[in-house]
Amino acid sequence: MTSPPPLPRPVRAEAGEPLDVTMTVNGTEVSLSLPARVTLADALRDHLGLTGTHLGCEHGVCGMCTVLVNGSAARACLLFACQLDGADIVTVEGLGRPDDLHPLQEAFGAHHALQCGFCTPGFLLSSYDLLAHKPDVAEEDLPVELSGVLCRCTGYRNILSAVSEVAGAHRDGIPGPRNCGRHVLMGHTAAEPGAKSAPEPVGVREIELPQGDPTFTVEVTQELTASLEKTWAVLDDIDLVAACLPGAELTEHLGDEKYRGRARVSVGPIRLSFVGLAQVTERDAAAHRLRVIGQGEDAGGGRTQADILLVAEEAGAGTRLRATAQVYLTGRIAQFGRALAGDVSRRMFEQFAAAVEETAVSGVRTTARKPPGALALLAATLVAKAREWGRRLRRAEHNPPTHPKGTQR
Ligand code: FES
Ligand code: FES
Repeated sequence: MTSPPPLPRPVRAEAGEPLDVTMTVNGTEVSLSLPARVTLADALRDHLGLTGTHLGCEHGVCGMCTVLVNGSAARACLLFACQLDGADIVTVEGLGRPDDLHPLQEAFGAHHALQCGFCTPGFLLSSYDLLAHKPDVAEEDLPVELSGVLCRCTGYRNILSAVSEVAGAHRDGIPGPRNCGRHVLMGHTAAEPGAKSAPEPVGVREIELPQGDPTFTVEVTQELTASLEKTWAVLDDIDLVAACLPGAELTEHLGDEKYRGRARVSVGPIRLSFVGLAQVTERDAAAHRLRVIGQGEDAGGGRTQADILLVAEEAGAGTRLRATAQVYLTGRIAQFGRALAGDVSRRMFEQFAAAVEETAVSGVRTTARKPPGALALLAATLVAKAREWGRRLRRAEHNPPTHPKGTQR
């Protein structure tokens, strides 16, 4: 039996009236309540955190937003989400995982078929639809068959080579999507009036101890004016610790020192939103030590694990707070250079330490802090580097280098 055609069902609604829609997205059933004007593309990107679906023209011209609806390619910018009750949607996030790519994704990489990559999700799903429905497509027909998606980098030749190779290797049928049914979906439907929450993420259920060498290690020491006792009072309260961490939010106490939560961070144009678990594995009030292991996944398949040790020590009237974090990255977040990811993490710890100090001194819980943004982080890193160069310059002026006898200057 063939799958039903893409809906859309007729819908009547007042402007702004929320409508309930239940769809299966990448194998996971989701229920949303959205105004009729919300397109499928916006529902995927803004309400489910699946930002792999790109928007180019929003007029059905460029094909960038192509997804599979009930097994066939469809432009997500031309469908209203409320018309798709009961539909089965596959986005590029459902096609493969970083550690288990779909053959089309492998071939695009091998043939250098992506430059900026903006059109890539549209091309991947459009090619998937083509090869699923027409596995015997002739190579010379590919330019016309794939002409529904535009590449602004003009990388067509390599895209055609990649699709041609996969077509040749799978004449009896293209393998199905590889990342459906175990995907993390993040609901943030509260952005729309009357919206109701998306289901709980299904990603990380069990916390795992990080294995092997970390991607990078961050060590930060901050001198705080707050007393050791007041600082430890903050560190000993996991809700206060989470409130002090920029972009973090605790959503559930699971008992046994386990917690569920979210964390947001943006680096350059990429905004990552992690959902995951944290567990306190050491809480030593006498030594003022707190060790937390955290693990999260973002909708694009990025995964981060961190083993964080916080130690507070008396330093005069104040406190010295030492943070050591071993960070493990996989997926698209691992694309960032270690140096940049290290700077981002270091800056987050500095902001964390400042918030701990503020909370400890004022005795008032700090309000949620903004996740660190790329520009602020970059600026802070540059300022820190400029200060360091200034210090070196001043040291060099005060202590000019001595030259061994006989050395020419
Ligand atoms: S964004 Fe949908 S076709 Fe261009
Ligand atoms: S690779 Fe840049 S738009 Fe196609």
